[in-house]
Amino acid sequence: MSSILDKSPRLKYEVEQVAEVAGYLWEKGWAERNGGNITVNITDAVTDEIRELSSISAPVPIGVTLPELCGCWFFCKGNNRRMRDLARWPMDNGSVIRITDDCAHYEIMADNPVKPTSELPSHLSVHAWLLRNGSPYRASLHTHPIQLVAMSHNAEYLKNDVLSRLLWSMIPETKAFCPRGLGIVPYMLPSSVELANATIDVLADDYDVVMWEKHGVFAVGPDIMEAFDMVDTLNKSAIIFRDAMAMGFVPDGMSDSQMSELSTVFRLPK
Ligand code: 13P
Ligand code: ZN
Repeated sequence: MSSILDKSPRLKYEVEQVAEVAGYLWEKGWAERNGGNITVNITDAVTDEIRELSSISAPVPIGVTLPELCGCWFFCKGNNRRMRDLARWPMDNGSVIRITDDCAHYEIMADNPVKPTSELPSHLSVHAWLLRNGSPYRASLHTHPIQLVAMSHNAEYLKNDVLSRLLWSMIPETKAFCPRGLGIVPYMLPSSVELANATIDVLADDYDVVMWEKHGVFAVGPDIMEAFDMVDTLNKSAIIFRDAMAMGFVPDGMSDSQMSELSTVFRLPK
């Protein structure tokens, strides 16, 4: 069977990257059953030939109107689809959608009529916000990283930037590669528009990764690999913290002067 991927090498590359990340999420144990979702704004990878395709679904309301996304194209993990299956068969467990000209619906364009993730309102609202702000970011990832989610069950860590500082201080790379830290969104119903709006409010406070309390994280990046790497880096710090505690001591963490030196030398925000 022919695939839309045959019509654009760039689109094929983007979907292969999604599949690679989906495999990592499963291997890390962050993607139980259908847990987590990925969307990528693929509009720049869409060729004239692809634009002439007819939709394979009726228009479906998004639940929000997003003027910045009119006519934009996305690759989305399917609702209730497993990351481990997305890794092996991306076009059977995800779909290419196009936002209709009223900016309030999507149509499925290819390859199969796979309904997009239930977190589509959050993902698309974030993509619209990114475009509105002139951001080059095109990928968003929601996943359930075990140790970070565990830490969100302690109210102390949910106070402003307590968790960011603790995670940064576990290993220098964390601040170097995730310099904006980890924003916090209090618990809200999964897939709700309220959760989407709260996520944008926290991203707008200058975070690339936000914690959804007792649920997971939501990350944005220039591409899906960068978004994944930031979550992986933060969760690595959470594992170091956990392992030190399991060895029977509270880790010292890097000192304030070591953090400050790192920020100066690598030109990171203080
Ligand atoms: P979907 O299967 O709809 O993507 O939902 C998974 C999830 O993690 C919801 O938060
Ligand atoms: Zn989830």
